Parts: sequence; structure tokens; C-alpha cells
Amino acid sequence: MVTRKLAVLAATAVAALALAACGSSGSTASSSTSAAASSTAAESSAAGSSEVESSTAASSGAANAGSDELPAADPAVLKDAVIGFAQVGSESGWRSANTDNIKTTAEKYGVDLQFTSAEQDQAKQISSIKTFITQGVDLIAFSPVVETGWDAVLQEADAAGIPVVLTDRSVDSDPSLYRTFIGSDFILEGEKAATWAQGEFADATEVNMVVLEGTTGSAPANDRATGWANILGSDAKFKTLASQTGDFTRDGGKEVMEGFLATYPDIDLVYAHNDDMGLGAIEAIEAAGKVPGKDIKIVTVDAVKAGMEALSAGKINFIVECSPLLGEQLFQAATGVLSDQEIPARVVTIEGTFNQEQATAALPTRLY
Ligand code: AHR
Repeated sequence: MVTRKLAVLAATAVAALALAACGSSGSTASSSTSAAASSTAAESSAAGSSEVESSTAASSGAANAGSDELPAADPAVLKDAVIGFAQVGSESGWRSANTDNIKTTAEKYGVDLQFTSAEQDQAKQISSIKTFITQGVDLIAFSPVVETGWDAVLQEADAAGIPVVLTDRSVDSDPSLYRTFIGSDFILEGEKAATWAQGEFADATEVNMVVLEGTTGSAPANDRATGWANILGSDAKFKTLASQTGDFTRDGGKEVMEGFLATYPDIDLVYAHNDDMGLGAIEAIEAAGKVPGKDIKIVTVDAVKAGMEALSAGKINFIVECSPLLGEQLFQAATGVLSDQEIPARVVTIEGTFNQEQATAALPTRLY
């Protein structure tokens, strides 16, 4: 194990924001930083429609500025470092790509990665983290299943002097209990989806919508709902007929959509919090004798290959990107933490959006 040095990072004192470049082309993330707390011009330029671009810029009001960066991942620091990673589970294509990317990157740097998967069960994830603490690993990283309920285990890690890095999803605990949070701006993702819907249905007088929510209590489910409401919450034209969790799974999306279709004959739009649930919805819509993408429009989040293929085929109408390629940044952050360097308290992944044409163009080089 490497020598663990804990420089306590006062999150409030480190306002720098790292922006990881991993835009619509699906290229592996690299990072830059900014004091801005939300989206950027770069993000907007990656967007697939001008409606999305202008709204994105307007809703963030942020400019790219600032300079603090994550250090380069250093094999000299990372080799044989014992890093415990407690993954959410294997619920989606996004999750599989994220797991692969973290494992491959750990291998590249010679990290002794202790990997566990919680199958979307917070109790299991807490138990894994406790095991990492007992083992005395050098660093713990995890993507929290849900946002709440982490104080005790984070305090335990803190008391044991083990630094924690959050990837993908955040928690509502005091930021002093973890060293950084690397991941997407889920609120912005919801805003992008809603901005597309606003443009797509500009001429409609009424839009009957159903929502396939992500895992209840998870940051992406909470924030993607908030982002949508930020843009369309006060637009009476958009009527939410029903909103229910499909747990971020294809089967869940299919089952919930079957129920929606049985109850509501006149659905115009599905907002699915991820591609997998959107893909499940497509199956349900086709089984009901309707044409996904035409009779019922679909907007999703992620842009994994299967989602992009459905978009290219016209079965999904728009996808907001959420990059799972967080491995490089995780081990950059780990390098900083384990070599006692200051790192930004927040690292935001830069992401784009895709319409049908853009998905078709991006697919041949899509990495996940
Ligand atoms: O936290 C990221 C979300 O989790 C992805 O959008 C979803 O597909 C996954 O399960």
C-alpha cells in the first residue's frame, strides 16, 4: 500500500470546478477546470440543436473560467495503491461501460482495485465500504445508489483516515467528508431534454407526457426531474399523465410503459431518465401496435450505443449525453489525494446532445 497522507480538504475553500472534456464524439475524458458551477459554452457547442444551445447557455449563465486542474494520473503514485470501488450495480448499458472503464483504467496504472457491486442496494454498498475501511485501503471511491443516508459510513472512513472520492453520483452529506465529486450535471441534462421537447412541440397545443424515472432517491432521478421542471414546470401545455420508476433498467422501462399504454391511449411523449428505460418503452410501444419516435416521441439520457442505434433508426427522437468514462479522472483525483496535492472539490463532465443525424454520424466511433 502507498503511504496515505490526508490533507483535509475544506470543500468550501476549494471552489474550483474541473470540466472534463468528453463531448459528443464519445472521446475519453480529459479535464480542465473552471470556477463556474454549471454548464459552459463548450457544452453548448456540443449540443445538437440551437434551441438546446441557447437555453443551456441561458439556464447556466456560466462562463468557463478558472484554472485549477486535476493532476495527471501518475503510475508512480498509483502502482499497487489499494483502491476500493463500490459500484452501484449493473442496471444499465451506462453502468457496464462505467465499470469497464474504471477497471481498464485501474489496470493501466497498476492499481490494486478492490471492486464490489451493490446491485442498486444501498445496504450492500454501505457494507462494502465498511469492509474497505476494515481492510485499510488507501482510498475509497463509490457511486452512491441514492443521495441520502451516507453520513455515518463517511464519518467512519474519515475517522479511519481513509479519503473518499465520489464518482458519477453525489450525496447530501457534508462535502468535507469526501475529497471530490466527479460526474455529470444531472440538472443540466434534464434541462437539455426539456428544451428539446419545448422546441419539438412548439406548435402543439397540448402534450401528454409520461415519465420513466430512474431509481427512486438517486441523484440522476432527482436532478433530471428538477432540470425538466426548471424548463417546463410552469408550461401548462405539457401534462404529465403519469410518472413512475423503471429503476434505470430496460425491463423496468418496458413494464412501466406497458402499464402507461394500457391506461392512457393518447400519449405524445416519453421522457425516460436513461436509454435503457427508453429502449424498454420502445418494445412496449411496438407491442401495442404503435410506432415509437412517430406516434409517441421519446427523449432519453445517456447516449450509450444501443440508445444511439435506436435514435439513428428514428425510434428515439433525442438523447442527452451522460458520459460513463470517468476512470481517467478518478485516477487523476486519486493521484492528487495520495500524493497530498489539492484537487478541485467538483469535477463536472462536459456532455453534448444528439439528434438522429448526429447519432448516425457518431455511431461508427462511439466508444460505449
Ligand atoms: O448515474 C448515472 C445513471 O445511472 C445513468 O444515466 C443510468 O443509465 C445509470 O443507471
